[in-house]
Amino acid sequence: MASKISLEVNGAAVEIAVDDPAMPLLYALRNDLALKGPRFGCGLGQCGACTVIIDGEAVRSCVTTLEAAAGRKVTTLEGLGSPERPHPIQAAFIEHQAAQCGYCSNGMIMQAKAFLDRNKRPSDGEIRQALADNLCRCGTHIRVLAAIKLAAERIQRG
Ligand code: FES
Ligand code: FES
Repeated sequence: MASKISLEVNGAAVEIAVDDPAMPLLYALRNDLALKGPRFGCGLGQCGACTVIIDGEAVRSCVTTLEAAAGRKVTTLEGLGSPERPHPIQAAFIEHQAAQCGYCSNGMIMQAKAFLDRNKRPSDGEIRQALADNLCRCGTHIRVLAAIKLAAERIQRG
């Protein structure tokens, strides 16, 4: 029997009807809400492509149930900025061309967002550590790290 799950996504209250409340949050975001920022990579919590932020924490939406997100605040890539007004992390990724295929970029950016919200003055090592579990099969890590460093500097300056 279908049930309804209420949550907040990118500042808006939403209600999603599901047959199985244990469905991954990722499916609800992409299929029910048409938010295609979070990507399906491994589906096993191992690559980070599906990362979203829930109540300030970066989480892997492929292994987070929709039920677990009930009543919470979810932010996806679409909630950070727009093409006209990108978030500083998004702008820095564009400037550093920190993507090849771009499949990992959502996860890199969302992981970095949650990290920089907590650590305003990260060292290079701390940035590296924070992104260590986000995989990129194209090998763009050096540009990703440079982009996050640039974004951190700009956020510090305001
Ligand atoms: S798709 Fe979720 S961690 Fe890989
Ligand atoms: S840019 Fe292709 S997986 Fe990272």
